[in-house]
Amino acid sequence: MIAELLDPRHPLAELAGWDERVRLMVRPRRFEHVLRVAELACRIACANGLDEARAYAAGILHDIARDLPDAELLRLAPPECAIDSAHPLALHGRAARTLLERWGYRDPVVLEAVEDHTTGPRGDNGVAACVYVADVSEPGRGVNDDIRELALQDLDAALSRAIISKVTYLQGRGIQVHPRTLRAYRALPCIGGAPAAVPPGVSSPGAGSHLPT
Ligand SMILES: [Fe+2]
Ligand SMILES: [Fe+2]
Repeated sequence: MIAELLDPRHPLAELAGWDERVRLMVRPRRFEHVLRVAELACRIACANGLDEARAYAAGILHDIARDLPDAELLRLAPPECAIDSAHPLALHGRAARTLLERWGYRDPVVLEAVEDHTTGPRGDNGVAACVYVADVSEPGRGVNDDIRELALQDLDAALSRAIISKVTYLQGRGIQVHPRTLRAYRALPCIGGAPAAVPPGVSSPGAGSHLPT
């Protein structure tokens, strides 16, 4: 393990010092959330045979842009749709990726996981799935305990539950769903490209659910 960490190409080697940068970029309570997400993403990755180091790194980095002012988010991540323009906070995943790339962070798997953590994985990036699920279910949220427990046994099932729950919640309140979230929804194997429909009996996505992502 030590030999792996000494390899400068290792995602944790590249992460050296980044936790301090994140701590300086976000509010104290957010940093506590970040640490919980990183720890849980790492556990989920371990339980599902995925890359623990990259899951931890993506967890540490995912909210680095979360507390930036709207104007900064819009500058770092130009809007792709009307929802982005109306809700700049929806851009904080893309903005985080831009920021990290400008600062020299290079791991493409981690960067994609950071970018997609607000809207859901776009493909088969298991690290992105770990971070997305950990973000919505870390213990500090006080919701989605079922998703967290499921993720420690079956990440695909937990991801489906989390995304379907989010889409259902938004549609049930007449809130337009972000196109990237719909893309993640339609990419779920259990959906198979079908248009979003409201399935019965799913739980609230909990904290952060006011965003159309
Ligand atoms: Fe976030
Ligand atoms: Fe987060």
